[in-house]
Amino acid sequence: MRSIVELIEHKRDGNRHSEAEISYIVQEFTRGAMPDYQMSAWLMACFLRGLDADETVWLTRAMRDSGRVIDLSGLDVPVADKHSTGGVGDKTTLVLAPLVASCGAAVAKMSGRGLGHTGGTLDKLESIPGFRVEMDVDAFVEQVRRVRIAVIAQSPDVCPADKKMYALRDVTGTVPSIPLIVGSIISKKAAGGASAIVLDVKTGSGAFMKTEEESRELARELQRVGHALGLRMQCVVSDMDQPLGRAIGNAVEVCEAIQTLKGDGPSDLTELCVELAARMLRLAGVVEDDAGGRASARRALTSGEALERFARWVEAQGGDPRIVEDEGILPSAEYTTVLTADRDGFVAGFDAEGVGRAAVHLGAGRERKEDPIDPGAGIILHAKRGDRIMRGDALASLHASSIDRLEAGLARLRDAIRIAEAPPAPAVLFHEV
Ligand code: URA
Repeated sequence: MRSIVELIEHKRDGNRHSEAEISYIVQEFTRGAMPDYQMSAWLMACFLRGLDADETVWLTRAMRDSGRVIDLSGLDVPVADKHSTGGVGDKTTLVLAPLVASCGAAVAKMSGRGLGHTGGTLDKLESIPGFRVEMDVDAFVEQVRRVRIAVIAQSPDVCPADKKMYALRDVTGTVPSIPLIVGSIISKKAAGGASAIVLDVKTGSGAFMKTEEESRELARELQRVGHALGLRMQCVVSDMDQPLGRAIGNAVEVCEAIQTLKGDGPSDLTELCVELAARMLRLAGVVEDDAGGRASARRALTSGEALERFARWVEAQGGDPRIVEDEGILPSAEYTTVLTADRDGFVAGFDAEGVGRAAVHLGAGRERKEDPIDPGAGIILHAKRGDRIMRGDALASLHASSIDRLEAGLARLRDAIRIAEAPPAPAVLFHEV
């Protein structure tokens, strides 16, 4: 076997690794025998030279095997999981997990926190008073068995290689590499124990991947590598050119998720959740086809079963289940203002990343990992792409805990909404399935 330095040079010069070499690099780094500076150099070599189809599969497998691989095969129902590449106003998990669980599959998910302009499921869940996201793997498995849903923070025992590698990629300019992203996402999904996985790759101004071409390429690679690791998996490419739903923040997104579970949510969020649920149920073998999955999901929304499952889930993780009846229990921010239209016209579109940045200014998100979150801060959009508006109409309400934050958020949001005289082409929710 080549030494670590020789392996770095090998990739630097554009050569291909063997499976044994990749597995050695990941193992040595995970156990602390390969220092951060060498891993950073190797990651940059991978970023610049790329990894081919086989190397990407080997990397993903080695990362999966760097820690505990959870076994959920002994449950009496199939287990599904979903992952989104992140966006603005994406509260899908909060609706989808209870929706799928109420239709006959369990949902076991390890999730992340928000960073930069994108929100994170854990921050949203933690805005529910009492809700705990830290749980060890055994308790996680037990909750999936008992309640059919658990959504927790990424466990340090699962894919430790990814945690360490991601921390380096984040500060060495090596995040936006398709093989490294695929290795990171699929290794965690493969170790998380679910047998049926739906990946929602976002595309557009609020997404990690801004162009449809890049998003499609990422989706195809995710699906290819997922299948190579034996996962039943489907990728969709969905729109993130405007925020999903109307709420952007933490408690405000929990509120919108509850409305959606009551059958009274925004149409784009409802449609996305029903479509993703249908695919998760089909992959899990609960229904025969997507049409059956859609029908099941819509029934669970109208019958109240999905809402009831949400309340059980919240209670199981220490949260106050009365939030489904009384949204006043959720935190709110002291100051509110309204952004109004300065002319007549149509909402032509959004800079969705700008909307996310406005939410960060309000206190709803964080720029650095250690920043605190204000759970009550956020934005409610009163107009979405294509809506006709008159001068003076409310475009959005903003909530913050200080006047300074409110003003900063307002200025940023004003720049992120485009108004035009003519109506835009209709918004597309799915770009590729
Ligand atoms: N999300 C992940 O989990 N990993 C990446 O590398 C990028 C996005």
